[in-house]
Amino acid sequence: MPGARICLGLESSCDETAAALVDGERRILSSVVFGQADMHAPFGGVVPEIAARAHAERLDVCVAEALVQAGLQPSAIDAIAVTAGPGLMGGLLSGVLFAKGLAAGLACPLWPVNHLAGHALTPRLTDGIAFPYLMLLISGGHCQFLAVEGPAAYRRLGSTRDDAPGEAFDKVARLLGLGFPGGPAVEQLATAGDPTRFALPRPLLDQPGIDMSFSGLKTALRRTRDELVLAQGGLWHRDRQDLAAGFQAAVADVLGEKTRRALAVFEAEYAPAAPVLAVAGGVAANRALGAALHAVAKTAGFAALVAPLALATDNAAMIAWAGLEQAAEMADAPLIARPRWPLDTAAAPMVGSGRKGAKA
Ligand code: KG4
Ligand code: ZN
Repeated sequence: MPGARICLGLESSCDETAAALVDGERRILSSVVFGQADMHAPFGGVVPEIAARAHAERLDVCVAEALVQAGLQPSAIDAIAVTAGPGLMGGLLSGVLFAKGLAAGLACPLWPVNHLAGHALTPRLTDGIAFPYLMLLISGGHCQFLAVEGPAAYRRLGSTRDDAPGEAFDKVARLLGLGFPGGPAVEQLATAGDPTRFALPRPLLDQPGIDMSFSGLKTALRRTRDELVLAQGGLWHRDRQDLAAGFQAAVADVLGEKTRRALAVFEAEYAPAAPVLAVAGGVAANRALGAALHAVAKTAGFAALVAPLALATDNAAMIAWAGLEQAAEMADAPLIARPRWPLDTAAAPMVGSGRKGAKA
């Protein structure tokens, strides 16, 4: 990593303001994340204007905290990596402009990083695994299978055609009267529910291919809920539990089967010596889904690597690491904020692949 031993990573693409210091030997010297969930909770989703202001107000504090935690002075920073997309424009601009100022002050290199590359390269930071491997990214704004061939070489094997699974969890939480973000609340409710009571669909499982869809599932759940409300005048706790369990089981079935197909394609095309399925994104925190993915990977002879929660959800250590990995290829990269930025530019644009992703 010539000239760039310690990299400062900056992340502000959605609703987490984050700064981290990582070195070229995969050491995370500090990683600070200021979440904004409480600011957006009253609105039931991320409000871009509120997010942008919060990033602008907190980025400097976040960097100062990352330096204190690492016990370093600003002069120890060899390079800066900043998320330049995809994401919400206001937040991206806050991060990019802050990074430009800081890099000018420190006279150090500044690298634009694709947020999705940050997620996709995380297993190399945590476990140092070799290319190629298969990454399943499941978060609030993205859902895709990526064959990760190199630091800047990705092939999208499949993607959602509409909602991301985290988004579906959040919408279902709202339908059931739970808070935001909804994933953990739905999972909690599902633990005591009967997943077989309501017949919810498994979208696109009857069709070949690896693409996914989750919005029909959410609509089916709404219809079932409305029928119950009409018949009973409201929802019992038991109903909520069973709806949550039914929804989670449907997502597990869809992700499990699509993963099985993606592993088969990856195996056939890359014949990796030590096949690995890596999983990242906030939805990876779901234990039922994690268990389903582990089982599928095991059957296919793949090792399953689920990122630890702090590195599975949005953070800046992954951005710093992606910067270090991609440094050689980014010397002349223009530093502009890009709200849409698919990793695989050869693949057809899809909502869940970075074309319109507010979250990643
Ligand atoms: O990766 P992340 O922190 O942010 C981005 O979307 O970039 O993911 C957040 C998403 C939210 O939609 C949240 O509801 C979902 O991950 N999530 C979960 C769980 N924990 C978080 N979904 C299902 N089960 C969970 N336990
Ligand atoms: Zn993300």
